[in-house]
Amino acid sequence: MTNSNPASPTPKRRCILVCQYRSCSRNGSEEVLTTFRSTVPPSVFVTGSDCMGQCGSGPTVRVMPDGTWYCQVKPDDVVAIVEQHLYAETPVENLLHPRFHPRPDTYHESSAGQS
Ligand code: FES
Repeated sequence: MTNSNPASPTPKRRCILVCQYRSCSRNGSEEVLTTFRSTVPPSVFVTGSDCMGQCGSGPTVRVMPDGTWYCQVKPDDVVAIVEQHLYAETPVENLLHPRFHPRPDTYHESSAGQS
């Protein structure tokens, strides 16, 4: 059973992957993982992962089964992801990885002159 009520105190079950491989690790992903583990509710499983192929924009975080990719996540961003994404069901837009979650304004810039 899923919970889509933003006012609910119990977020639906999810898994959060936090890359612990080389590039992400050099950019502080261990602290990001530690912060997630101390912040998420019991319905959310958090684990470190191997490289997810987004090394240039780490630390990389994925929220499953939503299929949401976050990039350049810092420990200070964890509270926003927990409160906005997990509790309020609204992904944190400024942390979304543009490769997987392109913004409309980015689309227009990249497609200019292709007509
Ligand atoms: S090292 Fe983290 S995505 Fe590759």
